[in-house]
Amino acid sequence: MAIGTVVDLERYCAALRAAGLDAPWSRPGPLIEPKRTRVEPRLWRWTEIEPLLRRSADFLTPARGEGAERRILRLMNPGVPERTSGHTISVAVQYLLPGEVAPAHRHSPNAIRFMLRGEGAYTTVEGEKCAMRRGDVVLTPAMTWHDHGNEGREPATWLDALDAPVVRYLENLVMEPYPADRQPVGGRAGRVIHYPWEVAWEALSRLAEREGDPFDDVIMEYRDPATGQSLLPTIGCYLQLLRPGVRTRSHRHSSMAVYHVFEGTGATEIEGESYEWGPGDFFVVPPGAPHAHATRGDRPAILVSLQDVPLLRALGQYREEA
Ligand SMILES: [Fe+2]
Ligand SMILES: [Fe+2]
Repeated sequence: MAIGTVVDLERYCAALRAAGLDAPWSRPGPLIEPKRTRVEPRLWRWTEIEPLLRRSADFLTPARGEGAERRILRLMNPGVPERTSGHTISVAVQYLLPGEVAPAHRHSPNAIRFMLRGEGAYTTVEGEKCAMRRGDVVLTPAMTWHDHGNEGREPATWLDALDAPVVRYLENLVMEPYPADRQPVGGRAGRVIHYPWEVAWEALSRLAEREGDPFDDVIMEYRDPATGQSLLPTIGCYLQLLRPGVRTRSHRHSSMAVYHVFEGTGATEIEGESYEWGPGDFFVVPPGAPHAHATRGDRPAILVSLQDVPLLRALGQYREEA
């Protein structure tokens, strides 16, 4: 039985602090304090993003150094102090005018790009030049040299998803400029980094011939063909078809998701609130938030999503419930 007095305990705690130690039982409350997520459900409208993206070209031309290598607008979640879309995934929209180059660099965060608009843009990864057409996915894995360019006649726009918040948390965020704007072309990235739209769309269409999933209707995850693994160790990339008239059942999982509406209109109910979306919109489903999707009108909707499922699975933290 413990018999120390309050004065004894105070002196004891002072001795602990001096020794760099902490006794959590000396304070009231549970040993492990549950933490509620600060990530908020949020929708970003393309009709708001697009004009601001166009105007960003008045203020910045991509060039080496001073944080200006990329003309991006980040989706900022009000609940995340680091100004990223979620606590694990940072999503931005990148904009490159005809003839422009986003100079070569490399960094510890992994990135997934999903091409949205424009013809003639490319990303070179470790010397491998990938043409980016609407709907293509291009990866730039951690510490691979990459530069982007637009050789077309109209502005190019794509989505960048990075695991930078996780890498930052791991105290391992580094970035290096390449000595020139462009790296030489002609190398191989060392793994499959380019996933063309036609291949993904054909696979999704084939899947749609079967019965849908109750929570996601028709959904598939992009996988590295060499390993069968998710595209990144941290972020999985999903392509989803919601057929006309579909209303999915609500579920929730310990992972979070950033969605982009590639085509179609619909609504997603997140924590009891309805978020109506249309082409080009983005929205975030926080970890643990119940959510269900529905289409509007008589056309299907196509959603692309970035979800931190592989990270949670690797940590033994992935949980899902209906
Ligand atoms: Fe980069
Ligand atoms: Fe879900």
